[in-house]
Amino acid sequence: MHVAVILGGTSSERNVSLASGTAIAKALKQSGHDVILLDPAFGKNQKLQPFTQVGVTPPEQTELDRLPAEQGKALFDLVELILSKKIDIVFNALHGGIGENGIIQSIFEAAKINYTGSGVMASALAMNKVTSKYIFQSCNVPTPPFLFFKKSTEWAAVHKAIVSTFQFPIVIKPNEEGSTVGLSIVKGEKDLGAAWEKAIHYGHVLVEKYIAGRELTVAVLGVQALPVIEIIPEGGFYDYEHKYTKGKTNYVCPADITTAISDNAKSFAVKAFQGLGCEAYARVDFRLSENNELYCLEVNTLPGMTETSLVPKAAKADGMEFEQLVERIIQSSFKNSI
Ligand SMILES: Nc1ncnc2c1ncn2[C@@H]1O[C@H](COP(=O)(O)OP(=O)(O)O)[C@@H](O)[C@H]1O
Ligand SMILES: [Mg+2]
Repeated sequence: MHVAVILGGTSSERNVSLASGTAIAKALKQSGHDVILLDPAFGKNQKLQPFTQVGVTPPEQTELDRLPAEQGKALFDLVELILSKKIDIVFNALHGGIGENGIIQSIFEAAKINYTGSGVMASALAMNKVTSKYIFQSCNVPTPPFLFFKKSTEWAAVHKAIVSTFQFPIVIKPNEEGSTVGLSIVKGEKDLGAAWEKAIHYGHVLVEKYIAGRELTVAVLGVQALPVIEIIPEGGFYDYEHKYTKGKTNYVCPADITTAISDNAKSFAVKAFQGLGCEAYARVDFRLSENNELYCLEVNTLPGMTETSLVPKAAKADGMEFEQLVERIIQSSFKNSI
């Protein structure tokens, strides 16, 4: 098969995507496919940079702004490039931004290009944390209590609503980011202002009750949940650095939890996946409270796909090697897209 792996892009998760795409391309080549790598940040003048490492912080905005993809023209150039080659399917290894929020998916639909993963609607819904939470609630999937604010909301109104609704600690996060970018755990009122400023830098804002306890994640493949993973970050906070630095986080798969909790997490994960209308694969993040109650945080429609990422880890615990996982994603995306 002729596969174009799209990777990089211009979101804050650019470097993570370069890592995922590189691993996916390697697996596809090993399985005998004909593979090309394309970075939407460069349009027609592809300048593939050899991938080194994800780093401990996301790339600076000024760095991303220097990429030639301004004004969206590069995306259409990318589509022309794909159409000019004999490509059977695009493997979408982008994370965040227009790669994950339905925009690239809609352009591919319009151009009749096959692509992996969820379609336009599920991508858009899942990327928007507050919209996802409304859907979780309607599917009886528990999610932390929350408030949503437009970034233009007056600070006095934000402050008043937060202090009259929640007790500290709380979590303040951008509504449409990933990789814990722009997120703060706020322990007291004095840190509220700084956390708000940090989050609005990325757009509208979600405020949630902080769920003390453990962190679980469930990969869904097709409509089947894979073994639950427990995430144990050194120091307790699963931020960008702990997500992408080897040795900074312990992963236990299958998680050391009761069968009842595991079955519940899997069932909520599949409900959330189906409620949003996801396709092929996704990863559903949970908190497990000290009273053993599960709370769904979000669904990632384009989860990390390096060989050591969480979905590949869960697949491995289920007896599936990375190459097989990549192949399964392609096969299940074919019949679902276009
Ligand atoms: N309500 C919450 N309670 C406790 N921890 C949270 C909460 N929301 C987020 N976190 C922590 O922050 C991390 C990132 O949050 P998440 O909502 O999954 O956004 P992202 O898209 O950045 O991954 C989670 O994995 C978890 O460790
Ligand atoms: Mg998450």
